[in-house]
Amino acid sequence: MCGIVGVVGNKNATDILMQGLEKLEYRGYDSAGIYVVNGQKTNLVKSVGRIADLRTKLGIDIAGTAGIGHTRWATHGKPSEINAHPHQSETARFTLVHNGVIENFAEIKSDYLAGHNLKGQTDTEITVHLIGKFAEEDGLSVLEAFRKALSIIEGSYAFALMDAKDADTIYVAKNKSPLLIGLGDGYNMVCSDAMAMIRETSEYMEIHDKELVIVKADSVQVQDYAGNAIERGSYTAELDLSDIGKGTYPYYMLKEIDEQPTVMRKLISAYTDDAGKITVDADIIKAVQDADRIYIIAAGTSYHAGFASKDFLEQLTDTPVELGIASEWGYNQPLLSQKPLFIFISQSGETADSRQVLVRANKMGIPSLTVTNVPGSTLSREANYTMLLHAGPEIAVASTKAYTAQIATLAVLAKAVGDANGNSKAADFDLVHELSIVAQSIEASLSEKDMIEAKVADLLATSRNAFYIGRGTDYYVAMEASLKLKEISYIQCEGFAAGELKHGTISLIEDGVPVIALISNNKTLAAHTRGNIQEVAARGASVLTVVDEATAREEDDIKVRTVHPYLSSIAMVVPTQLVAYYATLQRGLDVDKPRNLAKSVTVE
Ligand code: M6R
Repeated sequence: MCGIVGVVGNKNATDILMQGLEKLEYRGYDSAGIYVVNGQKTNLVKSVGRIADLRTKLGIDIAGTAGIGHTRWATHGKPSEINAHPHQSETARFTLVHNGVIENFAEIKSDYLAGHNLKGQTDTEITVHLIGKFAEEDGLSVLEAFRKALSIIEGSYAFALMDAKDADTIYVAKNKSPLLIGLGDGYNMVCSDAMAMIRETSEYMEIHDKELVIVKADSVQVQDYAGNAIERGSYTAELDLSDIGKGTYPYYMLKEIDEQPTVMRKLISAYTDDAGKITVDADIIKAVQDADRIYIIAAGTSYHAGFASKDFLEQLTDTPVELGIASEWGYNQPLLSQKPLFIFISQSGETADSRQVLVRANKMGIPSLTVTNVPGSTLSREANYTMLLHAGPEIAVASTKAYTAQIATLAVLAKAVGDANGNSKAADFDLVHELSIVAQSIEASLSEKDMIEAKVADLLATSRNAFYIGRGTDYYVAMEASLKLKEISYIQCEGFAAGELKHGTISLIEDGVPVIALISNNKTLAAHTRGNIQEVAARGASVLTVVDEATAREEDDIKVRTVHPYLSSIAMVVPTQLVAYYATLQRGLDVDKPRNLAKSVTVE
């Protein structure tokens, strides 16, 4: 949440900052701003709305050799120009951008900033006033003032700070929020995500929590908060520029939905050996074998992917699986088994709620595996083991290809452990073959886009609310499908266990309420769900059925090519992704950037 960019050196800072912010817009898009320095001249431009709105406010003379920029997802104070970053100290000597939440900002304000003229409501403005006070009122050097402020501040942060008196330097510090240094020739950069700067460099340096970094055009010095120098090498980010473009697609979401067959095939090649056999790091297999219970911790769509994977993980690894919502588990962890293994599922690898649980697991010595799309992300670095999704960057806020890749990657893990254990169900489960059937099933659903678009127009054009229902794994898909629909189309939607409706919620069904029923290949459950469809139809619901071909009847609306039951969530979710996409498009909303959301949720 919130994106930070910074640059110093022989480049046009305005161009680099604006291009970087455009790439980081997925992290927050309620307001944005840049601060650019050119010799003695400084420019601060802020705007409510998107980066495009900021761009229209920039004059042609805003150029410079150094600067910082920010795209905001509001936490403290409403989205407004005053609350947009960068923020400045009392005299405007110091300028700061921030991602995170300063928990003791109210105490800082009352303890240190009496008489200061604070213009907005943000915790960030208080922080930069604090730094300014220490430097200008108490006579500390910039570094001393920054360090002193860092010793007082509590919470999560990634900061980039500039001093107008020494505009050749960007001071950086972080705790719990992501920040990287991008290394160039004659210039260096700061960014929340390598994607922001990949046009400029593929060489990056990590910053760890509670490190302070002094970034100049030709040097980068990493220190701990006591001022001790830290040696840090760089790494090459394996990001392809073409992966982060939209190409000819109108929206990233549609591109990412379409990429799913390719992602399935990439996963097969990433996790098979030369003989075509599924292969996973032996240490990861052993970690699962050593566990008496697997705890999956995740949020949102990733949490739903955990549910969709629970059944095959249990059956193939012979280990019980429990799920935890990350934001709940951070502070309300239930009694654990004797030998737990924590599996974190996270597209971004940066979700603060999940990280809070991981920090605690690490303190307790609990082994952990992160299943993520982003190599080098915080959850990947801090867990014992990582399995990558190989899905390529997912930029639309609504997660699609990451969800299906998460289930497929966990199937890889389950199969590898099952094979190692001699599990007979694993022996019968030819995952390479089954994933290629899944890829074909997705392709078949993608070829039905026009039909799905038309059905959506009939069903959801004017609805304010809707239901997805299903049983077994279809219920888990219903949870994900309803999240997708509500997060981008703003239709209030519940994903419900089909048999549970009659225990209360069926009272909400009246004439015309859309109910989308998901039925995949378990015949008994299918028969029961059909009964539940009759119940809602009798009360006036407008029903749309999404059914796998093996179970389908002629009158069913959307038919999904049948896949192995362990993988049916992957095949069944694809039409629901398209339902959400077209419902949103038909309402004239921004598919990729729904209101109030951000792609990477780095605050708790
Ligand atoms: O990056 P993560 O997978 O950890 O993110 C978790 C959720 O914030 C995320 O899945 C969210 O629910 C998606 N926007 C849903 O489409």
